[in-house]
Amino acid sequence: KRIAIFASGRGSNAAALYEAIQAGTIQAQVVVVLSDHQEVPVLGRAAEWGVPSVVVERKAYASKEAFEEAMLAAIAPYEPEAIVLAGYMRLLGPTFIKPYEHKILNIHPALLPSFPGLHAQGQAVAAGVKVSGCTVHFVDTGMDSGPIIMQAVVPVYADDTEDTLAARILPEEHKIYKKALALFCEDRLTIKNHIVHIED
Ligand code: GRF
Repeated sequence: KRIAIFASGRGSNAAALYEAIQAGTIQAQVVVVLSDHQEVPVLGRAAEWGVPSVVVERKAYASKEAFEEAMLAAIAPYEPEAIVLAGYMRLLGPTFIKPYEHKILNIHPALLPSFPGLHAQGQAVAAGVKVSGCTVHFVDTGMDSGPIIMQAVVPVYADDTEDTLAARILPEEHKIYKKALALFCEDRLTIKNHIVHIED
């Protein structure tokens, strides 16, 4: 599949996916990288890969709808079939999601439906949970509320901070995102009543 990667910053998930695609374990091609911020590391990575990138900043548009129309227009020339959110730190609205329904994937650094939204690892530490992890899910218009594709679990220790927990979760994010995207690109994921089924 032709995929667009959306990322706001560092891009470690984007890099993990790109490397698996290059290695042939995911049947995909990264056709464009979109960021909502200029001069972030993920844009440097795209340049190294020789993948085109576009920056679409929220502040350049009067409304969320206009912003999302601009995002759709910016990626359209690359004809992506699916959108992979990899540390894209904005909630997508119906304007963007409608044309890509069930074709947008996200990674979240907590075991959804616990701890949606920002600072998920900090929320987990503050709650005192003894396990946390990460979730790959399809994106709907809610906050981290779409159908769950895959999860991985890590322990949470009493002396963890948001940063130490985030560091333990991140390698698991890379692992499950690669597996989930591979299944998606093989058309092996189906959704029935909000439940994702993995076909053989
Ligand atoms: C990851 O923890 C992701 O789950 C969260 O933001 C972080 C992005 O990291 N939403 P990176 O840009 O992929 O390195």
